[in-house]
Amino acid sequence: MEKVPVRQIIITGNWKMYKTVDEATQFVQDLIPQLTESQIKIYLAVPFTAIYPTCEIAKNSQITIGAQNMNEADEGAFTGEIAGRMLKNAGAQFVILGHSERRTYFNETNQKINLKIKRALLDNLQPTLCIGETIQQRNSGETEAILEQQIQECLEGVALDDVKKIVLAYEPIWAIGTGKIAKPDDVQKTHHFCRELIAKKWNKEIADHLTIQYGGSVHPDNAADLLKQEDIDGLLIGGASLSVESFVKIIKLTINKLVNIHK
Ligand code: PGA
Repeated sequence: MEKVPVRQIIITGNWKMYKTVDEATQFVQDLIPQLTESQIKIYLAVPFTAIYPTCEIAKNSQITIGAQNMNEADEGAFTGEIAGRMLKNAGAQFVILGHSERRTYFNETNQKINLKIKRALLDNLQPTLCIGETIQQRNSGETEAILEQQIQECLEGVALDDVKKIVLAYEPIWAIGTGKIAKPDDVQKTHHFCRELIAKKWNKEIADHLTIQYGGSVHPDNAADLLKQEDIDGLLIGGASLSVESFVKIIKLTINKLVNIHK
């Protein structure tokens, strides 16, 4: 049997518009002593205001701090926006781009996300690219076509060496924050489809090493079944990442995946 390629497992907490500086720093302080397995990467996408202070606390830990969005320009007169190099200088190492809440509420298109991805890479921030279909698209059998278009357009013109740095997060929009869970088998098929697509459009080596996370109503009681799937290399967690207790529960379940891979 072919050996399973080792991909970096990443568990990301996406805090959205939650947590003050005090709450964020307290969370990181409480989380650090509970992390026991250093092969799993723990990412926290915190609000902009919490980047610098949480980085200070997370310095010598396995926690990587990142942002949830950025502007595609280097700098400029864009009131209220934030540049990648500002995030980087504050200590961020990654940035979530193309989250469905950005697409839905802030009209972000694949073309805009593509510009943001290129800018993030120039600023040495690792992009986590979110893709996913609506319930209508799913019901009309368009899921794969939509994901293909999102991957193609969001990564248009990104150099081969840079595609390697990206984390892909499949988040069916109908599963985000709704408590509706996609079936692990279905998610596996979709992740496999995305991996094959990356192999076809770029190459197999990149595809084999690409971390593909699943996101959408992940909780301690459904994480294990998702993590059992071969092509699910991590999770992007919203609501359940806001409490140390549930976040740590999910991290502990992820350790089993690591054990199975190395069997
Ligand atoms: P949820 O959010 O876990 O609360 O569904 C996931 C996300 O938006 O990334």
